[in-house]
Amino acid sequence: MEEKSKVYAKEISTLIGESWKSMNISAGITAGLFDELSLEKPVSIEDIINKKQYSTEKLELWFNYMTKIGIVKKKDHYFYLTQKGLLFSKNSPFKDLLGLFQITDYFMQSAVNSKENFKTENSQDTLTKGKLSNDYQSKVTDNLSMALVEIFKSNHIGGIDSLLDLGCGNGNLLREIHRSFPFMKLTGVDQNVHAIERGNETNVNQTNKENEIKFINGNVLNDMKLFPDKSQDWVTGINLFHFIKSNTRMEVINNMMRICRKGIFFTETVLEASTMSSSSNPLLTLLWNDFTGFFSKNDSDKINNNLVTNYKDFELETLPIIQGTSNIIILKNKWLKKI
Ligand SMILES: C[S@@+](CC[C@H](N)C(=O)[O-])C[C@H]1O[C@@H](n2cnc3c(N)ncnc32)[C@H](O)[C@@H]1O
Repeated sequence: MEEKSKVYAKEISTLIGESWKSMNISAGITAGLFDELSLEKPVSIEDIINKKQYSTEKLELWFNYMTKIGIVKKKDHYFYLTQKGLLFSKNSPFKDLLGLFQITDYFMQSAVNSKENFKTENSQDTLTKGKLSNDYQSKVTDNLSMALVEIFKSNHIGGIDSLLDLGCGNGNLLREIHRSFPFMKLTGVDQNVHAIERGNETNVNQTNKENEIKFINGNVLNDMKLFPDKSQDWVTGINLFHFIKSNTRMEVINNMMRICRKGIFFTETVLEASTMSSSSNPLLTLLWNDFTGFFSKNDSDKINNNLVTNYKDFELETLPIIQGTSNIIILKNKWLKKI
């Protein structure tokens, strides 16, 4: 028996070592250590203690380990981020990767409380209502959605176009679009009243004006009659569909198509697309009561084929995003090409 299991022991030891490595990195992100460091500016442990009142011994052990695994480098008694370490800091050029890493914290909480979280309707929180989602959204999903802005920019969006973002959260994506295209008319809909409040507050704080972006507290399943046919140029739904039951996803997409003039963008996280998608799927149900699961490859193919068949005036494009965990589906009116 022992012989038979022996072959797996090495694999499991490696797995444990790698997960502890990622917990050490997560601890550093959460404690704000990466944000104290940079590629060029020398930072000593004393500098961090002065700012954060952390323990010298604990910091030394953490820094030694990070040096060993190539995340920071030490010169004299100063520390710098390596190019790899930069990916964990707020200056990371890959915001989506940082977003994915930040989910680890929430997954750890869900795993620790799994005896409770496995019970029906008893996960850590409810994304569409809960307060925890305030914090999660500004840390995790904002980073994931910011990586998408470049795609919007290169797809004819701009000028005085109108755009409706379904499941907009606290509106960070809309603010990012507003920065690039200040004349676009932007509207966001979200079911979570806390996210909408936060969106309004952030708008006022950041623009110093009354709301530049209109936020509506509503449900994308029941409140779409608020938007007449062809009343918006663009409609987006980013990281929304894994909170919508699979049998109603097509209904939401059809509504997006009804409302748009120029096109729609939405994300599909596909279970089979990566180890991250498949391993986060069960963890997300322990975290959020209202997580409805990622798309199976089969479901995603069905939806995409359906769109191609039913919307002949539109052209469908699929681009991998968020480190290959998801696809962004772009459905653009064919006449846009001719402009
Ligand atoms: C994972 S977050 C994504 C937020 C934002 N789009 C982003 O990418 O940063 C999903 C959002 O969809 C909202 N949502 C989920 N189901 C909804 C529904 N039926 N109606 C309106 N909003 C919904 C949630 O409240 C949450 O803010």
